Amino acid sequence: MGQAMKIYKKRDFPVSNIRRLLEPGPIVLVSSRYKGAANIMTMGWHTVMEFSPSLVGCVIAGGNHSHDMIRKSRQCVINVPTADIAMTVVKIGNCSGADTDKFGKFKLTAEAAIEVDAPLIAECYANLECKLADDALIDKYDFFIFEIVKAHAATAPKNPKTIHYRGDGEFMIAGGSRSYRKQFRPGML
Ligand SMILES: Cc1cc2nc3c(=O)[nH]c(=O)nc-3n(C[C@H](O)[C@H](O)[C@H](O)COP(=O)(O)O)c2cc1C
Repeated sequence: MGQAMKIYKKRDFPVSNIRRLLEPGPIVLVSSRYKGAANIMTMGWHTVMEFSPSLVGCVIAGGNHSHDMIRKSRQCVINVPTADIAMTVVKIGNCSGADTDKFGKFKLTAEAAIEVDAPLIAECYANLECKLADDALIDKYDFFIFEIVKAHAATAPKNPKTIHYRGDGEFMIAGGSRSYRKQFRPGML
């Protein structure tokens, strides 16, 4: 069955702001450990690159304390938070592990991972244990390519209220869902 479709009126849009239209995935918390010290940073610039092996690429800017910690330890955990801790997620992004113990300051629970030496954040809906799979683009783009070697996800709720950054201090909050399963070619599911 066809669908009613409308044509959107457009205005010129600054190319430096297109992240506001494209940033798709949830904001995540990246936790790391290096020489015994643990840290967390907030991250939005990530993308799935491959299913098997499970590869995720992301930008971790050189000025961030996490950059060196992750580059040197070659591992981290990508944690998926939900709207209930959105304020903490922003505050974690507003300070640096260079001078702040973020697990202590934000009262987050560090749990031991199975495959990596970096802490899982228990208050997050999912935790993805990552090993650095390719460092070829770090110097040029601060782009880290990780293999997810172990993943933990909550069983409920089914559709978590993940937070998605729209720029200018605004989050879109997920949670609703509608199935289009029948319209998909099986190989694309
Ligand atoms: C919503 C949000 C999204 C962010 N996304 C990224 C990102 O994708 N890459 C990045 O390098 N920094 C990002 N940041 C900035 C870092 O989280 C911030 O610089 C943080 O303080 C770094 O912590 P660290 O110095 O302890 O590593 C983001 C911050 C916020 C609030």
